[in-house]
Amino acid sequence: MKILMASSEAVPFAKTGGLADAVSALSIALAKLGHEVCIVMPRYYCVNRNDLRLLEGALGVHTGGGEIWSAVYTADLPGSPPKNPVRVFFIDHEGFFGRDGIYGTPSEPDFLDNPRRFAFLCRAVFQLCRKTGWYPDILHAHDWPAALTPVFLKYGERDFPDGEFARTLSVLTIHNLGYQGIYRKDDFYCTRLSWDVFYNAGFDDWNMMNLLKAGISTADKLNTVSPNYAAETCSAAHGFRLDGVLRYRREDYRGILNGIDTSVWNPKTDKYIPQTYSTEDMSGKAAAKEELRQKFNLPPGENVPIVGMVTRLTGQKGVGELFGPAYGSAWSICRDMNLQFVLIGTGEAWCENELRSLSGRLSNFKAHIGYSEEESHLIEAGSDFFLMPSRYEPCGLNQMYSLAYGTLPVVRNTGGLADTVENFNQETGAGTGFMFDDLTPQAVYNTVGWAIWAYYNRRRQIEAMRIRGMKQDFSWTKSAKKYTEMYEEMRKNSLPPGKPAPEQNQGAGF
Ligand code: ADP
Ligand code: GLC
Repeated sequence: MKILMASSEAVPFAKTGGLADAVSALSIALAKLGHEVCIVMPRYYCVNRNDLRLLEGALGVHTGGGEIWSAVYTADLPGSPPKNPVRVFFIDHEGFFGRDGIYGTPSEPDFLDNPRRFAFLCRAVFQLCRKTGWYPDILHAHDWPAALTPVFLKYGERDFPDGEFARTLSVLTIHNLGYQGIYRKDDFYCTRLSWDVFYNAGFDDWNMMNLLKAGISTADKLNTVSPNYAAETCSAAHGFRLDGVLRYRREDYRGILNGIDTSVWNPKTDKYIPQTYSTEDMSGKAAAKEELRQKFNLPPGENVPIVGMVTRLTGQKGVGELFGPAYGSAWSICRDMNLQFVLIGTGEAWCENELRSLSGRLSNFKAHIGYSEEESHLIEAGSDFFLMPSRYEPCGLNQMYSLAYGTLPVVRNTGGLADTVENFNQETGAGTGFMFDDLTPQAVYNTVGWAIWAYYNRRRQIEAMRIRGMKQDFSWTKSAKKYTEMYEEMRKNSLPPGKPAPEQNQGAGF
């Protein structure tokens, strides 16, 4: 199949969170299964043009303000199979993407012209196909920035029975329902759609324009990144006001668990840790723990457990319950328990300040404010426990990285965390981590306390859990097969019975 991924992020080019990991790793896994895959994304300022090839000729893209011209750069996605590489196309426009920040900057967290920037990206996807002569069987959009692509496909691009996109089907993957792309209705002009589409395609959201809602209403199939989150989002508690639309589309909506990129997140080959390790020889884990202590200036203490965190500092991740001044439990966790706590993260200013303050006041707590691949690998490998008290979690990658590194996750029983971690049973020794239901400072305190108690008192069970976690299969191949099944199902159901699909993809290829 020919699959086009439309996304605002993809590693290693631009990343703010797990979306970037998921898009690239899924594309690679699909290419390994033999599909032809490309990714279309903006060329942000941070993507160096010198590493890319310029495609000949410019792309004319119609947006509300008239036709805008853009250059297109291309590169092979690192890590993709050499015989069938994933091609990345970068839509280049200085005015829209030649600035710091992907969606915004600390002083302007959501750029005012975001609807225009991402409407431009979504329109450019279709023009790019025309330019290259390569038309996808599946147009796969990720999150609100790409959510206009299924809308454009349904309202306009697929209108002509013999047109180039007549047989293209669309999928929208929801990585995080908390971000919907809600803008003023006045911005609807940038879609170049007529006002009847505003209502028919589901843009309307209490007199605002909701891009994700329009994508959910129009895509041929929908999915999110874990089965449990798919079920949760159909309820008012987790639906972020879109549970009604999701329930309406339940037949076309499913959960497919993300995987992890085992070429990057693998203790047997990890280049960021001092000594690699495996279930047969865990000595490298102790070496990583020692290096982690040194890097974070923690006092020596061989037998003291380390609790680690790598996270965006935002309400979704439960940072209020942990670090909220006066009520968060991190202070009492570090004061009352014989442990060390390390964290790396960036995000909301109040939280960054609180972390700096805690690092100064507590000798067993150290936080680095910033973003570092290297330190995130070291925390995964060197910690004994990994804390993820998420308010909600569509899938979560870090708890899967933790399991692969023999680091026991301490997580809230929600979303993808519930699908990937099994709670410790201290009678039988079963389980792969420690879980709690309600997100309260007290519950986080108690569950970390339980894990630390087990560390000191149930050593054999803890070691057995580590090995159990490391043996789990979270490879993307499994997920990519599930996506393929979904694509195939769609294609089968969309063909008129008895008639074979016409060979429409006769383009020049890329
Ligand atoms: P989300 O996408 O909601 O932030 P995930 O667990 O799916 O959560 O993915 C987060 C990804 O971002 C992981 O790959 C994690 O290692 C990475 N990450 C988050 N913050 C940092 C940081 N400060 N430094 C390095 N990596 C980070
Ligand atoms: C989002 C979610 C996270 C998920 C990631 C990749 O950022 O918050 O849970 O793992 O997307 O799908």
